[in-house]
Amino acid sequence: MPSGLTRRIEAVQPSATLKITALAKQMRAQGKKVINLAGGEPDFDTPAFIKQAAIAAIEGGATKYTPTTGLPELKQAVADAFRKFSGLSFSPAQVAVTSGAKQALYNAIQALIQEGDEVLMPSPYWVSYPEMVRLAGGTPVEVRTRPADGFRLTAEQVASACTSKTRCLLLNSPANPTGAVLNEATLKAIGRIALEKGLWVISDEIYARLSFDGPARSILAVLPELAPQTLIVDGVSKAYAMTGWRIGFLAGPEKVVAACGRLQDHATSCPSHISQRAALAALTGEQGPVEAMAREFKKRRDLLVERVGRIRKVKLAAAPAGAFYAFLDISGTGLDADALAERLLKEAEVAAVPGSGFGWTDHLRVSFCLDTKEMLVGLDRLAEFTEKLK
Ligand SMILES: Cc1ncc(COP(=O)(O)O)c(C=O)c1O
Repeated sequence: MPSGLTRRIEAVQPSATLKITALAKQMRAQGKKVINLAGGEPDFDTPAFIKQAAIAAIEGGATKYTPTTGLPELKQAVADAFRKFSGLSFSPAQVAVTSGAKQALYNAIQALIQEGDEVLMPSPYWVSYPEMVRLAGGTPVEVRTRPADGFRLTAEQVASACTSKTRCLLLNSPANPTGAVLNEATLKAIGRIALEKGLWVISDEIYARLSFDGPARSILAVLPELAPQTLIVDGVSKAYAMTGWRIGFLAGPEKVVAACGRLQDHATSCPSHISQRAALAALTGEQGPVEAMAREFKKRRDLLVERVGRIRKVKLAAAPAGAFYAFLDISGTGLDADALAERLLKEAEVAAVPGSGFGWTDHLRVSFCLDTKEMLVGLDRLAEFTEKLK
């Protein structure tokens, strides 16, 4: 029997979001009427014209490898989309297509981070950031935001977290799990610190198109001088309801993007050719479905904020301005997030993600990517359940 797993993999935590969703699915399979407030993907179907493009791709023989970093016409479409939707200027050579935004982040961190490097990340953070940094040998450094600031990172917080070892700053606006969106002034101030300290910036903009109170700006659009040290991560997963198609994008300095391509050469090769054709249709076709989905999420956001406001033991610091999550303070329930999430699922049949996975044990993430009626029933159950707690 060979000896066990590597230290590297032993240190990796399972994803808190995937774990609770799997448990909820299992309970549903047993016939239980679980309400899923734990989801991390739009409940909308991929628009029909995108599916048709994939069917046509299969029938037309687009079933072979493409270049590792994507079809040239898709890279061009991604560059065009960055210009059109985010005001960013990239050449196709500065773009790589990846198997989901997750792979774009993973590649970027592998390319830039090594032993001894500290990576700043606003906390609450998306579950995978610290694990990706650890897998690269780096040290994740939480920069805790304040609920009173609506969980929006401030430049002062970034400045005071910097040390001589700080190498990179991870940004995520709109954010998972809080829905916080950074305004132009804050992005500029944070960007200036990155310039002054010579930090890499990896900006995860996967929720950029789902912003409810005005557009979510990209740090690179507000401070173009950052271009030589900034990587932008995006993809079709959330905006086009295409999570299962696994197409993400990485854009930035050509040398770094090419390095990420070399990693991809030896890891996964190209993303699915069929999915790339579908993504091409998504980016170049009718954008109405994206706008309709964003409008619907905004409506649900408003309903959720109103309903949560009536739950006595749960608090929401600020209305989420983007994405499709709200991060609820559950300290008034007397339970920590893991215990509450487990009991809520087992006793009230509502799935929600404990904040511990995002670095906060007194918060719970609920999402509004489910039918409105079901969402409201789920929140009512949360109210009843927490009311019953001693
Ligand atoms: C903040 C954030 N970044 C990246 C991803 C990964 O996206 P993809 O499904 O395209 O890999 C997610 C998915 O939940 C996310 O919430």
